[in-house]
Order: sequence, then C-alpha cells, then structure tokens
Amino acid sequence: MKILKIKNKEIKIPVVQGGMGIGVSLYRLASAVASEGGIGVISSAALDIILSKRYSKKFDNYTAVRKEIELAKSYGKGGCIGINIMVALQKDYESSVKAAVDEGVDAIISGGGLPLNLPSITDPHDTALIPIVSSPRSLELICKKWEKQGYRPDACILEGPLAGGHLGFKIEDIDKEENKLENLLPMVKEVAKKYGDFPVIAAGGIYDRTDIKNIMKLGADGVQMGTRFLATEESGASFEYKQAVVNAKRENIIVAYKPGSPCGLPFRVIKNSPMYVSALSRIRKPKCNMGYVLTKDENGKLTKCDAKEENYQSFCICNGLLSSSGYNSDTEEPLYTVGVVAERVNKIQTVSEIFKELCLEN
Ligand SMILES: Cc1cc2nc3c(=O)[nH]c(=O)nc-3n(C[C@H](O)[C@H](O)[C@H](O)COP(=O)(O)O)c2cc1C
Repeated sequence: MKILKIKNKEIKIPVVQGGMGIGVSLYRLASAVASEGGIGVISSAALDIILSKRYSKKFDNYTAVRKEIELAKSYGKGGCIGINIMVALQKDYESSVKAAVDEGVDAIISGGGLPLNLPSITDPHDTALIPIVSSPRSLELICKKWEKQGYRPDACILEGPLAGGHLGFKIEDIDKEENKLENLLPMVKEVAKKYGDFPVIAAGGIYDRTDIKNIMKLGADGVQMGTRFLATEESGASFEYKQAVVNAKRENIIVAYKPGSPCGLPFRVIKNSPMYVSALSRIRKPKCNMGYVLTKDENGKLTKCDAKEENYQSFCICNGLLSSSGYNSDTEEPLYTVGVVAERVNKIQTVSEIFKELCLEN
C-alpha cells in the first residue's frame, strides 16, 4: 500500500483508525493501531469523566486530554497518534485543542460540525489539522475560512453516508446516489487540489483490503475505519457492545433521527440498543447531567441540550454512550452506534490480526 504523507509525517500503512467516542477509542486502541503503522486516534469526548474514574481522582478536560495522549504515545511501539475532537462538544472544544497541541499530538481530526476556526485556537506547530467533511461544499467553506487564518488543511477526511456515529448529511439525503462515497470523492479531490493538493482520506463503509484498494484506485490517499476497530480486544467498548456488533444484521442497523442525537445530526445505531428503545417508547425520563453536546438558545448562546428538556426528539447521547463503554452502566442504558459494515464483523479480533488481514497480498 502507498505511504500516506501528512505534514512532516510518513504513515507506513494508509489506515487511520476513526476516533470513537465515548470511551471506545482510548490510548490502548490508538497505540495498538499506531504500533502497526497506521494512525491511532483517541476520542476527546468525556475524557475528564473517563480519567477521573480510571484514576479515582479529579481530572479537568485539559489535563485529561494531555494524559491520554501521553499514554497513547508511550504505551505501544510508537507511531502516529491523533485525537478526534468534535465541534459539537462545544464546552471543551478549545481546551481540548490546546491540550492536544501542547502535548505534541501528531494530528487533530475534527468534525461533528464544521471546524471553521480550528487554526486560530492556538499555533498548531507540528500538529496536523485535519477536518472531516461530507461534501465538497463544506470542504471549500473550511478552506476559504482557514486561508483567512493563514492555514490550509494538512489532509481531510471525507466521510460518506455508511459511517458510524453522527452523519454529515440531512436525513433525506443519506441514500442519494450522488452522496455515495465513491461519487463524492472526485469532487472533494478537486477542492483539495485547489488548496495545495493535500491528501484526502476516505471513510464510511470500508472493511477489508479490497475496499481499501478500490477506493484508493478512485483517488483516495488513505482510509479511515471506525467500525472495523470497534469490536477489537483493545477497544474500550463493553463486552455487550462488542457482542451486539458481532451479532448485528443489516436490518438491525438504522439511522436514528427524532428521536436522535440532541445536536440534530442523524446518528447510526443498532435498533435494539436499550437507550434507543427507551427513547422510542418514551420510557426514560428526560434528564441530562453532562452538558457536552450543547446547542444555541434563543440568545445565540450555547446553553441548551434538547435531551434535558424532552425525550421525543432526542435521546441522551452522552449518558447512553458512556454506558456503552461501561462508565455508568449501573444507572444508564447503553446506546450502540455502528457503521453499516457492522454486518460484516463476525468476531472479536485483535488490532494486529486486523492489520495482518489488511496487509495480506491477494
Ligand atoms: C462507535 C463509534 C463512535 C464514533 N465516534 C465518533 C466521534 O466521536 N467523532 C467522530 O468524528 N466520528 C466518530 N465516529 C465515526 C468514525 O470515526 C469513522 O469516521 C466512521 O466510523 C467510519 O465509518 P466506518 O464505521 O464504516 O468505518 C464514530 C464511529 C463509531 C462506529
């Protein structure tokens, strides 16, 4: 496979492990992927809660982000470590970016909204800044905004509609032919060429070596894979979550929207995830004690979480995802997010086994 070059870094195997919050992609998974020659990515989501619980002492967000990056860099055999910081996590966005740069992370990968001001938060030094987009239009917008801040993306991730987690498409556009990953790719490559010809990494629906070869033939410089790494030994998902992924069939994997994520983006889940079932039947009383995903109130201030007020339009994503990685499973029901390729996952594997399969010549 072709080496992936991003900023001043060479990545031997052009595979980025997708950031998976909350608590799925932590230092163990990221360092295992980096050790195999890909980019291992931790998720910044709720790291303050996760580390406070792990070490039985209070961590604020800044300190937690630095600590998790330090662990990811020192735990395995070295390699390239990134951090996924979602724009939707407004409460901690800036402090996460500063902590990641201060700790010398190799890449900040940012989506779940448009990271329009990312280069202005702090001087990134050697850290690569990589936006996630789902259309050429959003990439163009980001490039224009970033140029005004004196910066161009070091790479971008194009995430198509088959991905796990939040989707960057309107619900009615998800199944459109023009939005298939392979159809979006040439247009996104055009925009990348216009702004310095940075690498384009394709994500959403990539599972095996054939998928990687096919999308790279169409011009992708690398791939990002989330679901393939979700049911690994090294992932932070609970055993029940991993089993649910192994057992998932195509008809059980749906896009949740009203009830959906309180940030308003469509969100792919396993249909019988307990938190989703409760939201559908309105069993769970609306409450939110987290405040990570905030939307604007009538004064334009980020203060609101819809899942706190009602249970008809949204489910409590933060508590549901924390429960899926075992942090509050005694009090909250889990919410299982997956990509469509979950239907192809039929056993729990180690990261090393997956890389062996991906690198086998056929
Ligand atoms: C369990 C899970 C959690 C995810 N969490 C995040 C996240 O916190 N931030 C983000 O930008 N993308 C997130 N994603 C998307 C992945 O990083 C990746 O881009 C996507 O899953 C690629 O599609 P695939 O699952 O078909 O490989 C998540 C995906 C999964 C499966």
